[in-house]
Amino acid sequence: MKKLISAILFLLPVAAFAAGGEVTYPNDKVNVNYGDKASLQNGAKLFVNYCQGCHSMEYVRYSRVAQDLDLTEEQAQQLILGEGKLGDTMDKSMDPDLAKKWFGVNPLDLSMVARVRGNDWVYNYLRAFYIDKSRPFDVNNTVFPGVGMPHILADLQGLQMKSDDLLAVEEIISSGKARIDELKATVKDKEASAGAVEKAQEAIAKLENEIHEAEQEIAEISRQGKMFTIVEEGSMTPEEYDHAVRDLVAFMAYTANPVKLKSKEIGLWSLLFLLILLVLAYFLKKEFWKDIKKK
Ligand code: HEC
Repeated sequence: MKKLISAILFLLPVAAFAAGGEVTYPNDKVNVNYGDKASLQNGAKLFVNYCQGCHSMEYVRYSRVAQDLDLTEEQAQQLILGEGKLGDTMDKSMDPDLAKKWFGVNPLDLSMVARVRGNDWVYNYLRAFYIDKSRPFDVNNTVFPGVGMPHILADLQGLQMKSDDLLAVEEIISSGKARIDELKATVKDKEASAGAVEKAQEAIAKLENEIHEAEQEIAEISRQGKMFTIVEEGSMTPEEYDHAVRDLVAFMAYTANPVKLKSKEIGLWSLLFLLILLVLAYFLKKEFWKDIKKK
């Protein structure tokens, strides 16, 4: 029993991390509809065209995708990269060693990413690239700071910068944090007078409050969709881009959990089966009681 309790206690933080993790912005929700085959098909097409150069889907076969997404043979053939065959898994075209050299990391397999990171995380990530000239590919990402992936969908989305509102609030947070560090030094300083320490502690509390408010402000800016300003237009409007990313996420959500597509159907059949069983049970009961009552 003790062992069981300690095992549960040990796993709790893991579960908490899986459930929440840290909040990142933008923090929008994506609505994935597994019944919308056109959306899934569009997602598959985008994945093959824009992602599979670097990322594989080792657990996914073209044939399974074709079947699940109702693709015609011709459409299925168009999905297949290079020399591949319908029965192959969706491997990437890039050599892993070369990728490591170019990006410093090997772009990981994306079969499961929607389950590991969550649909919303992937949706926000793909919409959160912004210009940052200090980075190797001139872009950074608010959901994945310091990311090693270039903004692959820039020709669709265009290029965006952090908005002035966001920059102003971020400035409040970073200067506040720097000031707190200085004040903490005063608090720790053994030669500082009691009055000075008290003053520093009050100032820290005030700054922490300001930072907290600024963080809520970021949440509000994100909610209003005002984190970024487009500075170079892409081929899509922001709405079209969001839809494209939604389709892409829908496809990744499907590959991470292919049974989801079928689970509704299975659920309906199970209910029907139980209903038939109920009717049979009712008549069976009537049949039994008939004999008993006679006696
Ligand atoms: C030019 C190569 C390249 C292409 C093309 C590419 N990526 Fe990436 N991607 C990377 C690299 C490199 C990383 C690792 C980033 C890091 O760890 O800093 C990455 C990371 C990711 C991650 C984060 C994975 C994680 O959990 O850490 C996701 C999600 C992702 N890519 C999705 C996509 C999608 C969707 C596409 C297609 C629209 C795509 N990538 C196209 C190179 C690429």
